[in-house]
Amino acid sequence: AAKDRRYTYEQHKQTADWLLAHTTHRPSLAIICGSGLGGLAELVKDPVTFNYSDIPNFPQSTVVGHAGKLVFGMLAEVPCVVMQGRFHMYEGYPLWKVTFPVRIFHLLGAKTLIVTNAAGGLNQSYQVGDIMVIRDHINMPGLAGTNPLMGPNDERFGPRFPAISDAYDAELRALALNVGKDLGYADNLHEGVYCTVGGPNYESIAECRFLQQLGADAVGMSTVPEVIVARHCGLRVFGFSLITNKAVLDYGSHEKANHAEVLEASRQAARKLERLVSVLLERIKCS
Ligand code: 6GU
Repeated sequence: AAKDRRYTYEQHKQTADWLLAHTTHRPSLAIICGSGLGGLAELVKDPVTFNYSDIPNFPQSTVVGHAGKLVFGMLAEVPCVVMQGRFHMYEGYPLWKVTFPVRIFHLLGAKTLIVTNAAGGLNQSYQVGDIMVIRDHINMPGLAGTNPLMGPNDERFGPRFPAISDAYDAELRALALNVGKDLGYADNLHEGVYCTVGGPNYESIAECRFLQQLGADAVGMSTVPEVIVARHCGLRVFGFSLITNKAVLDYGSHEKANHAEVLEASRQAARKLERLVSVLLERIKCS
C-alpha cells in the first residue's frame, strides 16, 4: 500500500519547511528524550511546541511515558529542538518511520544530536540511577538484517555504505565525563556499550548473559536506529543511557524487569540527567 512506502526526500523537505514556516527558532542542536526523560523539554526557554499529530507526515507516538511533542527553544543559550517521545520498532513502525525525525532535524539545520534512553544494566558494576555515556553500540536488529538505511539510498542524505565506527563523538564524551565529575556524579557515571534489541518483551536470562558476553554494558529498545541515520547525514552524535533496572542474569533471582519500575527510576534520576545535559550544553556553547 502507498502508506507503507518510505518517505521521499520531498516529504522530508515538506515537513522541515512547514516547521521552519511555523517557528522562528533555528536549532543547531536536537535532543531525543527517552522514556520518562522528557523533562528536558520543560527547561526550554521561549518554547514553541508542536504535537506530532499537527506536523505534516510526522508519525504518532503510542507509549505511556512518551508525550509526542516537538519543542523548539533555547537550552543553556543553545538553540534546540527537543523530541519528547520517540518512536520504537516494537510499536510496529518500520525503522524508516522511527528515524524520520532525525532527517528533519538535519534539514532544519541542526548539526548535533543528543539521544537519551532508559536501559537495563548488564554490567554488574552499574546501579539503578547510574548514567552511562554511550561509547559504542551493538545493533542486534541491524546484525540480523533490519536497518533504517536498508532500501534505496538517497545520496542527498548520505552515502550508501556509511562508517559507524566513530558514531559517538569522542570530544563530547570526554566533555560529558568531565561535567559529570564536576557535578559530583563520578561514582555513578560510566562510559559503555549500549545494545539495542527489538523488544517489546524484556530479555530472557539467557539473552542477558549472551548480550553481556558480547560486550554490552546496557540494553534497551531504542536509540541505535536514530544514531545510524544521524551519522548517515553527518550529524555529530552524543548519547546517555539512564540505568533504570539491573538486567536479570541469575536463575536464582526473583527479580523481573517491568515498565513501571523503569519509569519510576527515570523519574527519580531524571533531574540528574537534565542537569548533566544543561551543563554540557553550557560548555559546548563555550567550547
Ligand atoms: Cl532490562 N531491557 C530492555 N530491552 N530495555 C530496557 C530495559 C531492559 N530496561 C529499560 N529498558
